[in-house]
Amino acid sequence: MTRASDFGLIGLAVMGQNLVLNVESRGFQVSVYNRTPAVTDEFVAAHPGKRLVGTPTLEAFVQSLARPRKLMIMVKAGAAVDAVIEQLIPLLEPDDIVIDGGNSLYTDTERRDAWLTAQGLRFIGAGVSGGEEGARKGPAIMPGGPASTWGLMRPIFEAIAAKVDGEPCVMHIGPGGAGHYVKMIHNGIEYGDMQLICEAYAIFKAAGLSTDEMAAVFNRWNEGELQSYLIQITGKALEQRDTETGQPIVELILDQAGQKGTGQWTLLNAAENAVVISTINAAVEARVLSSQKALRVRASTQLQGPSPNISGVDRATLVNQVHEALYASKVVSYAQGLDLMRTMGEKKAWGLDLGGIAAIWRGGCIIRARFLNRITEAYRADPGLQHLMLAPFFVEVLNRAQQPWREVVALAVRHGIAVPAFGASLGYFDSLRSARLPANLLQAQRDFFGAHTYERVDKPAGQWFHTAWPEVIG
Ligand code: 6PG
Repeated sequence: MTRASDFGLIGLAVMGQNLVLNVESRGFQVSVYNRTPAVTDEFVAAHPGKRLVGTPTLEAFVQSLARPRKLMIMVKAGAAVDAVIEQLIPLLEPDDIVIDGGNSLYTDTERRDAWLTAQGLRFIGAGVSGGEEGARKGPAIMPGGPASTWGLMRPIFEAIAAKVDGEPCVMHIGPGGAGHYVKMIHNGIEYGDMQLICEAYAIFKAAGLSTDEMAAVFNRWNEGELQSYLIQITGKALEQRDTETGQPIVELILDQAGQKGTGQWTLLNAAENAVVISTINAAVEARVLSSQKALRVRASTQLQGPSPNISGVDRATLVNQVHEALYASKVVSYAQGLDLMRTMGEKKAWGLDLGGIAAIWRGGCIIRARFLNRITEAYRADPGLQHLMLAPFFVEVLNRAQQPWREVVALAVRHGIAVPAFGASLGYFDSLRSARLPANLLQAQRDFFGAHTYERVDKPAGQWFHTAWPEVIG
């Protein structure tokens, strides 16, 4: 009989397997369980000499763990998580720790937290980002749950997380569903970043850059202010040739984007809280429209517009302008995501440390990027910062970028190139910096048809007026 394991993991899909190997590589003994025992056996057999304990049943799995047990569930988000928990509850003992490491909806996490706590168990809802490679080499981890449980999990989490400047990319996010909530916002921002990059690509393509030329631009950008994992993989993806045809693989991939739902959850949550996340919104909607390929193909033969061929522009100038448009739009997107996190964090009294969250996103996760340092600095300099776009560093970036950003959006509009996320970001920027918006007319309309009343610019706030509008016939 081997000694009891330090950690256990249920669900041996690729993410689960890689997390197990990561935990084991930090000196821990790990028990593993998969619904199909053959998967467990194959996995353990494929890694001889490692501190892995394959268990054929959930009972054996639970029994193999040192108490208080620390076990992570890595199964598909949704009903499967509940099914596993249901089977686990009768097998566990007080104070055992159940961690859900999937992309669960934060409200599900809150429900499970209440459920397990009522059974005398401990629950952590942990967002884990970084894909397969991150799971193996070091992801960013966003655990939510009681601080005391975080204290018990901390050594393992810190050991397996990515490190940036020696700092592990994990922190206690807050109680209950806070961890999965922050992971959801991470994913919303991920959607925004990806769509913005795609719009830059669309403009370059219309300007006649080859995929190799574009790859060179993204590779160069990855050395500067835009340095990030997503820019890096974009450069690599554009370089990649199809083994069969020798053509750039990107040009052979069907333009129909998939999504699993975390972006849509972010939109729903923003709508519920009246927070504007127009860049992320545009990104999610762009995926939706992309998936309606047949409709688009039909519409392309009926709805007219300029053909997306940009000619007569200086390429170097265009590349610089797109850089600025991308950077500024990215700042807007992060600012919106942070605004939503701040709003929800306050509403739920989660005590979110926005600067700390930006810091743990610097490594391991999909949105890891150099500029996150600047976000952390902004919140460290002013913990009460109301809006990221008003932090001195970002004010400067946005003011520097706004003119080329406009040029890019105008160019795209003139040439019929869809840039919903660039456009939405710029629209947000211009709305935010407008001391006066046309909402005066909107108020007039509301008062006209519904006597909703309005305040006046020439009277003290809080006094409400109604106009006797003329009657409209027909
Ligand atoms: C991560 C990713 C990861 C995954 C999501 C998004 O942080 O590692 O966000 O969780 O990519 O499932 O996937 P979709 O693009 O399919 O929604």
